[in-house]
Amino acid sequence: MHYDTRKKRDHGLPYNPFKALVAPRPIGWISTVSAKGVVNLAPYSFFNAVADFPPMVMFSSTGIKHSQINAEATGEFVCNFVSYELRDQMVGTSAEVGPDVSEPEMVGLEMTPSVYVKPPRVSRAPAALECKYLKTVQLHDIDGVPSESHVIIGQVIGVYIDDAVITDGMVDLGKIQPVARLGYADYSAVDRVFKLKWDGGEGLKRALEK
Ligand SMILES: Cc1cc2nc3c(=O)[nH]c(=O)nc-3n(C[C@H](O)[C@H](O)[C@H](O)COP(=O)(O)O)c2cc1C
Repeated sequence: MHYDTRKKRDHGLPYNPFKALVAPRPIGWISTVSAKGVVNLAPYSFFNAVADFPPMVMFSSTGIKHSQINAEATGEFVCNFVSYELRDQMVGTSAEVGPDVSEPEMVGLEMTPSVYVKPPRVSRAPAALECKYLKTVQLHDIDGVPSESHVIIGQVIGVYIDDAVITDGMVDLGKIQPVARLGYADYSAVDRVFKLKWDGGEGLKRALEK
């Protein structure tokens, strides 16, 4: 099949397949503090690392939501990672509640102060990135029409890793079992890790010389 996204429901399927294709997506569980001091926590799967050094991450908000408002107002956010054991609390914090409701309290999650920024991290999260807000990019479509989507970019200035998930000096994803977002109501946990060897292109060079 092939379909045109500019025509409404041209895919002819019961549900839009787009997000099931761009999968798995990591989940940034974003904690912020509002200008009034309320701690906010919400999951974003339009989330990723976008630069290595200095490290930068982004999350994309469909419509202007509290995480975006708070990050812009205070200049800070924290990206917590979701281990398999935290999956239910993560989904619980996606509830659309008022700005004065603190999602961590709502789902009974303890928070721990961050080192460099005001938003606290989820105490049980295996890792968290402390970010300074850089900028928001509102996305426009090919006709120049502004979309609902805003990409919030931040620079990671501090990294917390639970010592329990470090094995032989390396982050042990087998211990974290990070939860990834798939399409529809589906999720996956990373539970199989394999290595591929990169020989610096030597194998390809030899094949081309033959
Ligand atoms: C796993 C998961 C991923 C989500 N990803 C996004 C996302 O990438 N962008 C978005 O706007 N909303 C996303 N949502 C919905 C938000 O979490 C939800 O609208 C939430 O209430 C926003 O909270 P806030 O207003 O406190 O930022 C996601 C929800 C779940 C459960």
